[in-house]
Amino acid sequence: MKKLMIINGPNLNLLGKREPEIYGNLSFTEFLDEVKNKYKNVSISHFQSNIEGELIDKLHKVGFEYDGIILNAAAYTHTSVGIGDAVAAIQTPVVEVHISNTFDREEFRHQSYVAPHTKGVIVGFGLQSYELAIQSFLG
Ligand code: DQA
Repeated sequence: MKKLMIINGPNLNLLGKREPEIYGNLSFTEFLDEVKNKYKNVSISHFQSNIEGELIDKLHKVGFEYDGIILNAAAYTHTSVGIGDAVAAIQTPVVEVHISNTFDREEFRHQSYVAPHTKGVIVGFGLQSYELAIQSFLG
């Protein structure tokens, strides 16, 4: 069974409550339950933190064990050399995802310190971005 890990960065614990016009009405737990149900032959774990170092620690921990990491580093995407370096340091391939279309938003969201070290980036499909990332690791 393939082992995938979804890592969510700051403020994504508020999905469903946070700026629903941008991020939708569904909580991540509700979404994850649906996805786990749909992909029963895949092991899908989830970790969320608002703390940069905890995200880096998690990448180190799973980055030599799992088959794939789906990373939404949220605001740290645009600021964190440390998270970019962690993604470069690990062996497990990482797909970067964003719920909103970051290229249709403020200019500071166009920059990603993570993307150059990833397998690919999926941006702007709402929570479906995560599902597309899961599919990218299957088959
Ligand atoms: C986000 C986009 C980021 O710019 C923002 O800081 C987030 C969420 C997204 O999934 O659309 O917190 O990563």
